Amino acid sequence: MKILNIVGARPNFMKIAPLHRAFQQHEQVESKIVHTGQHYDEKMSDIFFNQLELPKPHYFLGIGGGSHTQQTAKIMIAFEKVVEDEKPDLILVVGDVNSTIACTLVAIKMGVPLAHVEAGLRSGDRTMPEEVNRVLTDSVSDYLFVTEQSGMINLAKEGIADEKVFFVGNVMIDSLAYFREKAANNDILQQADTKAGEYILMTMHRPANVDNEAGLKSILKIIKNAAKYKKVVFPIHPRTSNNMAKFGLKDQLESIDNLVLMGPQGYLQFLKLMENAALIITDSGGIQEETTYLQVPCLTFRDSTERPITTTLGTNQLLRDLNPVTVHEKMVEILNGQTRKGVIPPLWDGQAAERIAAILVEKGK
Ligand code: UD1
Repeated sequence: MKILNIVGARPNFMKIAPLHRAFQQHEQVESKIVHTGQHYDEKMSDIFFNQLELPKPHYFLGIGGGSHTQQTAKIMIAFEKVVEDEKPDLILVVGDVNSTIACTLVAIKMGVPLAHVEAGLRSGDRTMPEEVNRVLTDSVSDYLFVTEQSGMINLAKEGIADEKVFFVGNVMIDSLAYFREKAANNDILQQADTKAGEYILMTMHRPANVDNEAGLKSILKIIKNAAKYKKVVFPIHPRTSNNMAKFGLKDQLESIDNLVLMGPQGYLQFLKLMENAALIITDSGGIQEETTYLQVPCLTFRDSTERPITTTLGTNQLLRDLNPVTVHEKMVEILNGQTRKGVIPPLWDGQAAERIAAILVEKGK
């Protein structure tokens, strides 16, 4: 059984790593990795291959940047050739990025069975490109692997046949559990000149928050407020960094006291930063899950979440807007200890990839 595993953007690498490892345990599976090139910087891509012990991708399509339409269309054209050459038995996509939908469309048009890992998540917000990517991918997948109960309910509501849907847990948590010990050994806290529990970790990259001047100014105010209480460590995404420069706000950002501004971090460095933070302020999808597993308080700047279990069982709280006053109040609450530890969601046990591999091998017989 030949499987082509698709990666493109940063949040894909830690999901494919445990799957590729699990497939290697089955001699009847040939597992190959196709990197679309959606993320291409050393710090957004290569470092993850090294740290996550992934082999060099078998194919690198080199499609980075451009509008979402161009990106998606170019990936489709390049990936079609790979599928023609490889004639895979299965294409496996993860998550909700543009590479996911692009390769999904190729799989369908070329009649190759498709597996979607992290299926069923819904924020209900169709203005997010990721939500559209999720809905479309799930609607045509043959195997849908689900991380949390809400996903099962969403897929049932959308009329996806039960026999295609499998509740398996969370492959991103597989990576976290696998690499947690190793991550403890790097010196990122010294680099940031801080100690465990003594800093707030911040990430921001959603277009809705960082593609406009008002959003960026709110982010500056939030950092200034936070930095009055604790050091703020901010590994900045290229989109955010580019936009700070574009709107002439870079100097203001760089001059904030008690702020450690860094480039994008490797997987192991970022894991250590998350594990030891007093609080994480973010607009990421995946970090909501990682903080829930690590039982670290998380404030997420989103109107909605496709990962509701992180707010019902986990340590995540949604903040509906970038209003610095609300953020300030919440932050003080958390720093004063008004937090809950939460519980780790069902099947987030480090074994999701093995379950997926076993199911696919059984179905492929
Ligand atoms: C993408 C995903 C988003 C995910 C995020 C994680 C989609 C629709 N969005 O958003 O779900 O949370 O990745 O990072 O797929 N850039 C670089 N170097 C890189 C990568 C990007 O400089 O290695 C810059 C480029 O200017 C690029 C911009 O960042 O145009 C945005 O990159 P893109 O892949 O379009 O989307 P992200 O915002 O990273």
